[in-house]
Amino acid sequence: MSPVEKTHSQTRVVLFPYDQLKPGERKLIKVDQLEIAIMNVDENLYAFRNECPHQGIPMIFGSITGTMLTSNPQEYEYGLNNEIITCPLHGWEFELKTGKSLFSPNQVTLLTYDVRREERDIVLYLKRKPENISIIDFQCIPNCK
Ligand code: FES
Repeated sequence: MSPVEKTHSQTRVVLFPYDQLKPGERKLIKVDQLEIAIMNVDENLYAFRNECPHQGIPMIFGSITGTMLTSNPQEYEYGLNNEIITCPLHGWEFELKTGKSLFSPNQVTLLTYDVRREERDIVLYLKRKPENISIIDFQCIPNCK
C-alpha cells in the first residue's frame, strides 16, 4: 500500500487519498491480522477496531446516530448527533471519538485509532510498524449509514 514511516513512538501510515473516503463513506482495512474500520462522518474521520467488545460482531455495519442525553424526569433531549455508533447486533452504543460505551464508559470501550487528514491523504497512526496493510471489500447493508 502506501508509505509507512516510524516517528517518535508511532508509525505513520498513509492509507489513501482523502477523496477516496468522502463524507458518509466507510472503508475497512486489514493491518496484519487486525481489521480497522475507517469512517468519514460529516468530514470528521474516525478509526476503530472492527470488532464489538461484546461478541465481536463487525462494527463497520453499525449505524451512526445520536442518543438521548441525561435529563430531568419527563424531559427528553436528543444530542451527540452523528457522534455515536451503534452495534448492529445488540445495540451497544459507543462514542465515535473515544470509543467509550455510553453505558459503562470506563469499563467497556471500542478500541480507537488516531486517523487524520493530512493535506490530500488520510493517515493512520499505529503503535507498531505493520507488516501488511490492505483494503478489504465489503458491502454496506441497508442500515449501514
Ligand atoms: S455484539 Fe455488539 S452489542 Fe452484542
